[in-house]
Amino acid sequence: MGLSLTVNGDHLTSTADPITPLIDILREEFHLTGAKPVCREGFCGACMVLIDGKPTPSCLMPAALAEACDIRTVEGLAVNGGLNPIQVALEACDAVQCGMCFPGMVVSLTHLVTTRPEATRDDIRAALTGNICRCTGYERIIEAALLALATT
Ligand code: FES
Ligand code: FES
Repeated sequence: MGLSLTVNGDHLTSTADPITPLIDILREEFHLTGAKPVCREGFCGACMVLIDGKPTPSCLMPAALAEACDIRTVEGLAVNGGLNPIQVALEACDAVQCGMCFPGMVVSLTHLVTTRPEATRDDIRAALTGNICRCTGYERIIEAALLALATT
């Protein structure tokens, strides 16, 4: 019996072992390579996806636990086929360097901007505690989140 997963609104099936980490199925079977397997230990956030609307490290989640959930990857966060407000703001604030952390940052910050329109600088910092960036200071990322909050 296969796994049945709902990813970015599409109903997809996989014959992988049910304990396969969700990120491996997303990347290797469904070719959704935005989420990055970096630490694979739940520390860095590069693999973050939304599970029923909540930012969740997909490296730690056995795929079987994601059945019956709404899974949304960074590929599914576009608005009208284009960048969403946080992606626009990150670009405008020149907040990206190597980009390895950014799919996870976009997932966490999109969740914040859409669920906490009143979020403060401290709320942004708190929302990013599960996302590590090894290139930038976080200041431009925080400025981008504030810009997105101000323009949505
Ligand atoms: S790869 Fe999942 S938290 Fe780092
Ligand atoms: S931009 Fe390189 S890890 Fe964040």
